[in-house]
Amino acid sequence: MSESSEAVAGSVAERFEELYGAAPDGVWAAPGRVNLIGEHTDYNDGFVMPFALPHTAVAAVSRRDDGVLRLHSADVDGPVAELTVDGLVPESDKRWTAYPAGVVWALREAGHTVTGADVHLASSVPAGAGLSSSAALEVVVALALNDLFGLGLRGWQLARLCQRAENVYVGAPVGIMDQTASACCEIGHALFLDTRDLSQRQIPFDLAAEGMRLLVVDTQVKHSHSEGEYGKRRAGCEKGAALLGVDALRDVPYEELDAALERLGDEEEVRRLVRHVVTEDERVERVVSLLESGDTRAIGPVLVEGHASLRDDFRVSCPELDLVVETAVTSGALGARMTGGGFGGSAIVLAEETDVPTITKAVEEAFAAAGFTAPRVFEAVPAAGARRVR
Ligand code: GLA
Repeated sequence: MSESSEAVAGSVAERFEELYGAAPDGVWAAPGRVNLIGEHTDYNDGFVMPFALPHTAVAAVSRRDDGVLRLHSADVDGPVAELTVDGLVPESDKRWTAYPAGVVWALREAGHTVTGADVHLASSVPAGAGLSSSAALEVVVALALNDLFGLGLRGWQLARLCQRAENVYVGAPVGIMDQTASACCEIGHALFLDTRDLSQRQIPFDLAAEGMRLLVVDTQVKHSHSEGEYGKRRAGCEKGAALLGVDALRDVPYEELDAALERLGDEEEVRRLVRHVVTEDERVERVVSLLESGDTRAIGPVLVEGHASLRDDFRVSCPELDLVVETAVTSGALGARMTGGGFGGSAIVLAEETDVPTITKAVEEAFAAAGFTAPRVFEAVPAAGARRVR
C-alpha cells in the first residue's frame, strides 16, 4: 500500500523548495480510480460507478504572475521544464508535461486568469495500469490552480476542464469518468455518476464491514488510449447513435434494445458496440439498486456479465485480463471484470475475505503457467477525492 498523501506532502514540499528555492504555496492530492461498473459508457452520455484509490498524484505548487510555467516530476528523469502560459499549443507536447500544461491551457482558454506557476509532482498511481494516472495529474494541478487563483470552480467543473485538456491539448479522446472520479469521489463511497449532466450520488461501499474485499489485479500490460482502438470504439458508438437517430446511445432504452439492433440491420460491428453500451448502462443501474438494497454479494455476477460484454461485444479485453477473470471466478471469487479502457491495464475481483489468499495464488500461478509477466495484486478500499493536503 502506498503511503498516505498527507504523509508524502512534507517530502514533496521539501523537494519543491530544493528545485525552486522557496517553499510552495501549498500541496494538493488527487487520486487514481477503479471503476466498479459502467465501462465505455461515459462518452455515450451513460452511467458509471468509479471509486477513488488511496494512490494519488501529489503536487506542490506556487503561483506566479509573470507568465512562466515551470514543471517538474519526481517520477520522470529530467530537469525542470520551463514553458510560458501564452506559448501553450495543443498537441505540441508528447511528454508527461502535456497533462499539467494542458490544464493551464484549458483554464485560460475558458477565460480564467492563470498567470503562471511552479509545480512539482509525485504520483503513486501506477502509470498505464488503467487506474487513471493521467486524470490524477490533471485534477491535482487544476485543483491547486483553482485555489491559488481563487477561481471558485466546483469539482465537476474542474473535471470538465481537465477532460478538455486531455481531449484537445494532449489529443486523447477520453470521456469524463476519470477526471470526475478523481475530483468528486468520497471516502467509503462509490460514485454513481450520470455522465450526461454530471449529476451524482455517493453510494456507501464498505466491503470490509460485510466480510468482503475488492482486489485490483494490474496485469502489467501497458495500454495507450492515443493508440487508436479507443477512438475507433468511440467513433463506432457515435455512428450507432446517428443511425438510430439519437443524441447518444444513452438514449436507447434497454427495453427497446432488440428493436434498435434490428434497425441496425447488417451493421454487425455497430450492433455489437450498441449492445454493449445499452446493456452496460442497465448493469450500472442494477448494481446501484443491489447495493442500495444491501444485496452486495449479488453484484458479483453482474460484474462477470459486464466483462463478457466488453470481451465479446466491445472487444477491448486481452488474454491477460480474461485470464484474471476466468481464474478468479473458477477459484471462488464472487465476481470479476476488467476495469478502465482495456487493452491491458487492470481487472477487479470481488471476493469473500477468506477466499483472497486462494484467489490471489491461483491468479499468480495461472499467469506463470501462461508465461505472462507476474501481475501486481492489491486491495482497494474507496478513498478520498482530490483535496488540499498542506
Ligand atoms: C478510459 C477513459 C474513460 C472511460 C474508460 C472506459 O479510462 O479515460 O473516459 O471511457 O476508459 O470506461
